[in-house]
Amino acid sequence: MTQPYPTGAKKALLIAIDGPVAVGKSTVGRMVASRLGYRFVDTGTMYRALTWKAIEQKIPFDDEAALSRMSANTTFQLTTTGKNGQNNILMDGKDVTQQVRSAPVEKSVSLVSKVSEVRESLVRHQRRIAIEGRLVMAGRDIGTVVLPQADLKIFLAASPLERARRRYQELLGQSPKVNYDEVLADLQSRDDMDIHRQASPLKPATDAYILDTEGLSAEQVANKICALALGKPPSETC
Ligand code: DC
Repeated sequence: MTQPYPTGAKKALLIAIDGPVAVGKSTVGRMVASRLGYRFVDTGTMYRALTWKAIEQKIPFDDEAALSRMSANTTFQLTTTGKNGQNNILMDGKDVTQQVRSAPVEKSVSLVSKVSEVRESLVRHQRRIAIEGRLVMAGRDIGTVVLPQADLKIFLAASPLERARRRYQELLGQSPKVNYDEVLADLQSRDDMDIHRQASPLKPATDAYILDTEGLSAEQVANKICALALGKPPSETC
């Protein structure tokens, strides 16, 4: 059965993109934002930055009270670099764009992001960022919690094998030592934690458009979202 597509009378000004690990939210989100002339915010970088701070300050991941205090006392600034629309992140005034992609952060970010007080303080930041509109925001809970009023909610889907293949290709560019089975296992363990946590688990909003990206290029996915944002069927050119 074909999924009915959301039709808006107006151009969507707030676009939420959610989905599991390595489904292409940031790549596609950046492309959509650039086509529409909007800002792009990848909320995963904020959870990653807090994880980096916890590692630096040697805060144990099971000390929820300390993690909550730390998140309440952290400032963020997200800027978009001109070239590829990537988010640079300043935390407490310091650029941590590189650090948030490091292996220790990758391994532990789901432990930090399951703490409900951590989520509450980041959601407040994210809602403040969204006030101006003309924004594509990507994450796990954007359509369900952060921006339930979003004009367009997309939930990206692809099988774990397809997502692991994409992430493996991406990592291979950085290190020839990367192992596909490890990439798949990491991805499945993070998915599992994100889906089964108590606070804002990963799930599509009831009014989200589920976009199966299996076998589609990032360009093709971005085109579909862009068309939907303009109130057209996803099959039309944006
Ligand atoms: O999208 P990402 O892989 O950079 O996200 C890193 C982690 O942050 C992810 O495993 C779950 C968490 N996250 C979240 O809980 N809510 C969001 N809105 C964004 C990310």
